[in-house]
Amino acid sequence: MATEAESADPPAAYTALLDEIERYNAVGSAQSVLSWDQQVMMPERGTPARSQQLSTLSSLSHELLVDGDVGDHLDTLDDESLTTDQQAVVREVRRQYRRAERVPRDLVEDISEASSEALGAWESARENDDFDEFAPHLDELVDLKRQYAEHIDPDADPYAVLFADYEPCLPLSKAESILDELRETLVPLIDDIRASDADLATDALDGTYDTDTQEDLARDVLELLDYDFDRGRLDTSTHPFTSGNQFDCRITTRFDPEDPLGSLLPTIHEFGHAYYTLGLPDEEFGTPLGDDRDLSVHESQSRLWENHVGRSEDFWELLLPKFTDRFPQAEDLSVRDAYEAANQVYDENLIRVEADELTYHLHIIVRFEIERELIGGDLAVDEVPDRWNELYEEYLGLTPPSDAVGCLQDIHWSHGSFGYFPTYSLGSVMAAQLYAAADRDIDELDERFALASSTRLASGSARTFTATGNDTRRAS
Ligand code: CO
Repeated sequence: MATEAESADPPAAYTALLDEIERYNAVGSAQSVLSWDQQVMMPERGTPARSQQLSTLSSLSHELLVDGDVGDHLDTLDDESLTTDQQAVVREVRRQYRRAERVPRDLVEDISEASSEALGAWESARENDDFDEFAPHLDELVDLKRQYAEHIDPDADPYAVLFADYEPCLPLSKAESILDELRETLVPLIDDIRASDADLATDALDGTYDTDTQEDLARDVLELLDYDFDRGRLDTSTHPFTSGNQFDCRITTRFDPEDPLGSLLPTIHEFGHAYYTLGLPDEEFGTPLGDDRDLSVHESQSRLWENHVGRSEDFWELLLPKFTDRFPQAEDLSVRDAYEAANQVYDENLIRVEADELTYHLHIIVRFEIERELIGGDLAVDEVPDRWNELYEEYLGLTPPSDAVGCLQDIHWSHGSFGYFPTYSLGSVMAAQLYAAADRDIDELDERFALASSTRLASGSARTFTATGNDTRRAS
């Protein structure tokens, strides 16, 4: 068993392993920049070249992990004495290596190419409200990801194998029991809230808000939150997301003239992702110690800022002057009304990223059930729209009027990301636990938001999370 050896030089095999893994992660970072570009900047017809670039890098990255000396170094390190940090690095690399070595390179390339092409098809299908445009791509990705799971562990539930790509620390059964509990609690709670005759200012933000001004406001909010624009950017994309590392972590949002909260809250959400990433230790860049823990933890940071800060009454105290400054039309808006509007449970909400805090999890559970059935072979791709609508009716009492605002609304399946959705709810649960702990330990935590200067507001959040893991691309 390894023991502490803090002051000694690291074993030669460890240094060599780190070299290899830094190269492997550098390719991963390059992939994520190209992927960011594809979603934010790339001209519409750039897909064929981008698909080839990304699939070549996927293949190269796979080779760097499995075809070189990583496996030998890991074997050598079995018998070496390591510090706890070094043990953590070896543990994380070993987990990635064991999974990757089982997957043939051709399959890695096929998945990358198929998902890159599926992205364009999804965007177009969503725009044209035509599921059939996307269906063959989805079918191919389901098939490829099923093969991928079988290579990694032919005896396991393939969905559980895919889930472990995003959440390696929590068994699927545990995740499922958390989701079950959320569903059983939330469905009746939401019914009660909808039946309540409490008079809330749900329409306080109704109106039309110029989208360029909304963008100015989003930048104001990011400055208020101390987002470091020297190491980040704000852009728009179909689907808000965050991408990057501790030196360069970019966020995107989107704007709807009828819905200022629909860009404000996602902007705060993505800020939470970026703030965590930008807080990772610079000197560990390219190693598991300089990477995030996993998607649930990442999402706990975004949801912490979105739900527990961005939707709080005290934060609105700070935000409202900025809001009315940009939008004089809202000069009569009170903090209380804005707070009530930001926390309402919508009667009709079809879009996950615009969902309120409670119905959000039902959106996740619908996706979780459908992707499990898809990967398990219990649902055919052409049955997805009907199944989607059926589950929305059952859990949310809503039938989407079109697939564009139904099963085509999220980007994840076009990435081949099956097993990703549950991490959103798990992250929200973690965020609530973190916030409850902070609230217990810090006097008048909420009130401090209203008084906070940007630096005080920023202190003491994400920087306490030193993390390992290796996902570079994430959706919101
Ligand atoms: Co997120």
